[in-house]
Amino acid sequence: MDDDEPHEVDASAPDRGEAVADGGAEGADEVALDPWGSSTVDDYRKLFEEFGIEEFDEVLEEVPHPHYLMRRGVIFGHRDYRRIAAAMREDEPFAALSGFMPTGDPHVGHKLVFDELIWHQERGGDVYGLIADLEAHAARGLSWEEIDEHTESYLLSLLALGFDPEEGTLYRQSTNREVQDLAFELGTKANFSELAAIYDFDGETEVSYMQSVVTQMADILYPQLVEPRPTVIPVGPDQDPHMRLARDLAARMRYFKVTEAYASFELDDAERPLVARAYEALASGDDDAETDVRCTDAAAWLEAELPDSPDSLDLPESPDSPDTLDSPDSLDSRPLAGAVEKLEAAGKEPLRPRVRFFDRNATPEAFEALIEAVAGEKRVYEGHVDSFELDREEAEALAREVEVNHGGYGFVAPSSIYHRFMTGLTGGKMSSSVPASHISLLDDPSEGYDKVTAATTGGRETAELQRELGGEADECPVYELYAYLLAGDDDEFAAEVYEECVTGQRLCGDCKEQAAELMEAFLADHQEKREEARELLADLDLALESDRR
Ligand code: TRP
Ligand code: SF4
Repeated sequence: MDDDEPHEVDASAPDRGEAVADGGAEGADEVALDPWGSSTVDDYRKLFEEFGIEEFDEVLEEVPHPHYLMRRGVIFGHRDYRRIAAAMREDEPFAALSGFMPTGDPHVGHKLVFDELIWHQERGGDVYGLIADLEAHAARGLSWEEIDEHTESYLLSLLALGFDPEEGTLYRQSTNREVQDLAFELGTKANFSELAAIYDFDGETEVSYMQSVVTQMADILYPQLVEPRPTVIPVGPDQDPHMRLARDLAARMRYFKVTEAYASFELDDAERPLVARAYEALASGDDDAETDVRCTDAAAWLEAELPDSPDSLDLPESPDSPDTLDSPDSLDSRPLAGAVEKLEAAGKEPLRPRVRFFDRNATPEAFEALIEAVAGEKRVYEGHVDSFELDREEAEALAREVEVNHGGYGFVAPSSIYHRFMTGLTGGKMSSSVPASHISLLDDPSEGYDKVTAATTGGRETAELQRELGGEADECPVYELYAYLLAGDDDEFAAEVYEECVTGQRLCGDCKEQAAELMEAFLADHQEKREEARELLADLDLALESDRR
């Protein structure tokens, strides 16, 4: 399971993913995020810089009673989690969903995700847990027999940990017709070149494998078939490529795209803030006087005031425009030159801030209805309508309302949260082919005990040195077990272990003994609850045996 342990379980299963996974020419210190490969994440900071994942710490304060995995930095990153935090605070509807490939036994890495789902359910979310059996079959080559066996096991653990199946939804990809239909629809908005670029697919990639990608896209958007609502997908960072694609597809399905504009022509995301600055500089001072700022004035201002290098400008990464794949050329175009050129071409046209609704996929009736619904001063063009009175937020809400009323989905871009991967108990990566490196939720409690006592630590060579220098809790898989699992909600206890370790008051022998006992008790308790959950599972309308072969 390497670093993507929460998702990949049985590394001994034939991994057809490998061929595509390792095909990329990644540089040695480049971070590769690969949903089916063995992506290593040794520098989480790069995920922020290279992929635009945001730091979880920055939203932490907005989250009511954050989960201990959030408080301890195990959940380290997110996309658009603010929406979810706001929904929780304001008691607005939101959903959470994650999926599990039934390729082996559930283990302590999966428990993180199970706990995240359950926590969102306790916070009032409509929560979905799904078994990614189509993906396991297509991408991992598992037989339906193997898949059935593991499916039951994942569900038992999820229920045993507290998932409420009456409040939430559990499903298998293979029997969810709505998901499959949505996958088909979403497939109309993605082409092969794009999948090839994202996942390193090539001419040898099986069609079903590609189908499992659009199926996952459908999983991610499935909660919004009820109604458009913020949805969070808790996953490991290896799944981020899927999140980026899902956010793009959600936008591409929309009837309308709302942007901000300053004149009749289009600006790209890099040019827009430049023109905004010119407008603010020139129009400032007298709001009432309606002083017309002409496009040519703004062009002249930009050339005079701004340095030629785009690097020296503080350009936002356009966080609310998820469809970057739509306009790859905006990335290397030179914003200043582009903006000036467009402004000059527009000549004496006055600059006026406005919100613009583009017709992306709307039916003619829906576009008409939108035009009708835009209140106040507006201007109607061929494929878009500009409003001079609505603000961005009002415009977004209106666009969604019209879309939904005319049969569209109105998807909200899905959010995600990312957790750190656990280190293997034997040091290095957790690997499902090395049983000693991880603890399965099905391990006999005494076996769990033994694995913990045998684990590598961040301890020093001798007790003497340890007392003198302190242990290296940050490098210690045993400390991770405390922080991720054994200390539960008890921050004080986790902090105490850490402090005692790094100050040399705690020695590894005793520390492991304590952890081993806690692990043994956890496994015994969990397995008892799994047995109790059997009845609950049997009552659910969920095919535990597949008709497929
Ligand atoms: N691809 C995920 C994995 O590797 C499983 C999965 C399928 C999933 N659909 C999902 C995860 C939707 C999150 C959301 O395990
Ligand atoms: Fe790890 Fe505990 Fe040893 Fe510290 S004392 S290095 S936490 S095993």
